[in-house]
Amino acid sequence: MPANITAVAHFVPPDVFPNSYFESRLDTSDEWIRTRTGIKERRFLLEGATSDLIVPAAKECLEQRGLTPEDIDCVIVCTVTPDNMFPSTAATVQRKLGLTKAWGFDLSAACSGFLYGLMTGAALVESKQVRRVLVCGADKMSSILNPDDRSTFILFGDGAGVVLIEHSEDNNIGIKDSILKMDGKGGDFLYMKSGGSANPPSHETVDNKEHYAVQDGQTVFKSAVVGMADVSAEIMEKNNLTADDITWLVPHQANLRIIDATARRMGLSPDKVMINIDRYGNTTAGTIPICLSELWQQGKLKYGDGVILASFGAGYTWGSIYLRWGMK
Ligand code: ACO
Repeated sequence: MPANITAVAHFVPPDVFPNSYFESRLDTSDEWIRTRTGIKERRFLLEGATSDLIVPAAKECLEQRGLTPEDIDCVIVCTVTPDNMFPSTAATVQRKLGLTKAWGFDLSAACSGFLYGLMTGAALVESKQVRRVLVCGADKMSSILNPDDRSTFILFGDGAGVVLIEHSEDNNIGIKDSILKMDGKGGDFLYMKSGGSANPPSHETVDNKEHYAVQDGQTVFKSAVVGMADVSAEIMEKNNLTADDITWLVPHQANLRIIDATARRMGLSPDKVMINIDRYGNTTAGTIPICLSELWQQGKLKYGDGVILASFGAGYTWGSIYLRWGMK
C-alpha cells in the first residue's frame, strides 16, 4: 500500500519586504534582483521561531483531515534554522501542538530537506512503523542572513509547509519513486562557518559574522542547474514518463533560471511549472510544500495528477520525487 499525502497547508509571516526595501540599505536594485533571481518580495518573521511557522500549517493539516493531535504518530521537521541546537524543533512542535503520542526528529538537508523528509516519512508509513506522519519543511532564513551581504540577504525568505502522510488503499496514487543525492564537496560553497561543534560560537566568531550563511553564488548556480535538471530527467526516464504524464513540476524556488533550465530539460511547457519565488524568495526547506499547498488551495491539483518534485541545495544535496496526487 503506497504512502500518500492526505493533507497539505502552509504558513508565511505577514510582513512583506519588497526589493525596494534592500535598495535603500545595500548597493542593489529591484531590477538586478528580479532579472537575476525572479524574486519581487519575500516575508520575514519579525517575532518567533521556526516552530511558530510550522504550528499554524500543521494545525490546518489536522483540521483538513478532522484529526486530533493524538492521532499523529511521528513528526519530522526539515530545517537548517532550528529553534535551538537542542532539543529538536520536532520536540518543540510536538509540545506546542500537543502531539502526545508522536515521536520525531529534525532533518538537516537545507533546500532538499523536504524531499529527504518526504522520502523518510513515506518509508516509515509504507513499512507500517507509523500510521500518520507530519513532514514539515520550514526555515526562518532571516535568522542566519547577514544584512550587510547583498549576495545573500536578498535571496531568502521565511515560511513553512506541512504535509500529512498516510496509507492509501489506491495503488494508482501516492509517492511512487525518489532519487536523492549528496556530494559533501559542495560544503565549501554554501555554509554557515560557526555556531556548531567545529567552531563553537565566541565573541570572535560573532565579530567575524561567521554565524551567517555564506554562498559562492556562481559556483552553486552552475552545480544546481545541472544537478536539478539531471535528476528530474533521470526520474522521468526511470519511470518511463513523458512530458504528457506530468501535470506539475514543483521545483525548489532558489532561482527562476535554475527552474527554467530544469523544465526545459524535462520537455515541460512553462504552464506546468509551479512558481512562487516572486512572492516568497527562497524559503529553503519551505519552498516545495508551500508550492504544493498553494497549488492545492488554487484547485490546480487533481486526484491522480502526475507530479515531480525537484530540489538542489547546501551539502550539496539534491533529488527528485515522483508522485501521483492523492487528495480529492
Ligand atoms: N545586487 C547587485 N549586484 C549584486 C548583488 C545584488 N544583490 N549580488 C551580487 N551582485 C554582483 C556581484 O558582486 C557581481 O559583481 P562583479 O561582477 O562586479 O563581481 C555580479 O553581481 C554578478 O554576481 P554573480 O554572483 O555572478 O551573479 P549571478 O548571476 O550568479 O546571480 C545568484 C547570483 C542569484 C546568487 C545566483 O548565482 C544563484 O542563484 N545561485 C544559486 C543559488 C542556489 O541555488 N542556492 C542553493 C539553494 S540555497 C540553500 O540550500 C540554503
